[in-house]
Amino acid sequence: MPDTTRPFVIITRKLPDAVETRMCELFETRLNVDDHPFSREELAAAMAEADVLVPTVTDRIDADLIEQAGKRLKLIANFGVGVDHIDVEAATAHGITVTNTPDVLTEDTADMTMALILAVMRRLVEGADIIRREGNRWPGWSPTWMLGRRLGGKRLGIIGMGRIGQALARRARAFGMQVHYHNRRRVHPDIEAELGATYWESLDQMLSRMDVISVNCPHTPATYHLLSARRLKLIQPHAIIVNTARGEIIDEDALAQMLADGRIAGVGLDVFEHEPAVNPKLLECRNAVLLPHMGSATHEARHEMGEKVIVNIRAFWDGHTPPDQVLPEML
Ligand code: DGY
Repeated sequence: MPDTTRPFVIITRKLPDAVETRMCELFETRLNVDDHPFSREELAAAMAEADVLVPTVTDRIDADLIEQAGKRLKLIANFGVGVDHIDVEAATAHGITVTNTPDVLTEDTADMTMALILAVMRRLVEGADIIRREGNRWPGWSPTWMLGRRLGGKRLGIIGMGRIGQALARRARAFGMQVHYHNRRRVHPDIEAELGATYWESLDQMLSRMDVISVNCPHTPATYHLLSARRLKLIQPHAIIVNTARGEIIDEDALAQMLADGRIAGVGLDVFEHEPAVNPKLLECRNAVLLPHMGSATHEARHEMGEKVIVNIRAFWDGHTPPDQVLPEML
C-alpha cells in the first residue's frame, strides 16, 4: 500500500546514488533508473500523478504542460539553479511552487568559466589534440608555434554580476585580469571594492572595450539574445567570449558566422542555443572550445544539489516556505 502521508515524488533523471537512496527513505519516490530524457508525454504523465516533480534542465515544462498537471502536483523542485526551462509564472498561477538549487554550484561553475578562458586564450584543446593525434610525431618545441595570449593585464567583462559572476571575478583577479562588469543593478560598493570591479551601465560600451567577455547572467525573456548580431559586432576582433550560463543569451548563428569570418578571436561555450544540438559552423572552427554543459558537473556539486532538493521538498511538505522558492518577480 502506498504511504499517503509521504509525498509521491517523481525524479526525471538519474541522480547521484546517495541522493536517490535518501529520497527513497524519505518519500514515495519513482526513479529514472536508465536516465533516459523524458519525452513530453512522459513528463505530462509524471505531472498528472506526482505530488512533487524533480525535473532538470532537460525537461521543458511550459504553460501547456502546467495546464494539464494533476491536482496533486504542488511542487516542482528543480535539480539545478537555472529555471528558464520552467514557466514559473504559469506554475505560480496554478498554485504550484517552484524551487531551485542555488549556491552549491557557484564555485564549480566559476572554475569551469575560468578553465574555458584559459583553454581559449592558451589554446589548450588544440595543443592536446595535436599530441593525441600525432603522438611522438608532434613537431617539437618552437619559439613561434602554438602561441596564445597572456591573461594577466587583460580586461574581462562579466555580463551578470550575481553569485557566479562574482566568483569568477575573484578567480580572474588572481590571474591578474582587470575586472569589469555589466549588471541589471550595480552591486554594493563594498563588493565592487573587494573585486576591484568597474561597473559599465552601457553593455554596448563595455563590449567594445573588453579582451574577454563572459556571460554569467540567467536566461530570461529580457536576456534572450542579449548578445545580438548587432552587439556582437561591437566586440574587438582580438577578443574572446565564454558562456557557461545559457546558450539562448547569445545569437549563436551570428556568433558562429563571426567566428568563421575571423571577426572574433575565439569562443568557449559550455551551453548552446538549441541544446543538445550544436551549431555545425561552430564545430568547424579551430578556435571554438565546446563543452557538453559541464559547469556544475562535479561529484560534490551534484550531491549538494540533491541535498538542496531534499531540503526544499521536506520544508514544503512540512508546511513551510521552502528555502529556495523561485517567484516570477525574481526572474
Ligand atoms: C543549472 O544548475 O542551471 C545547470 O546549468 C544545470 O541545469
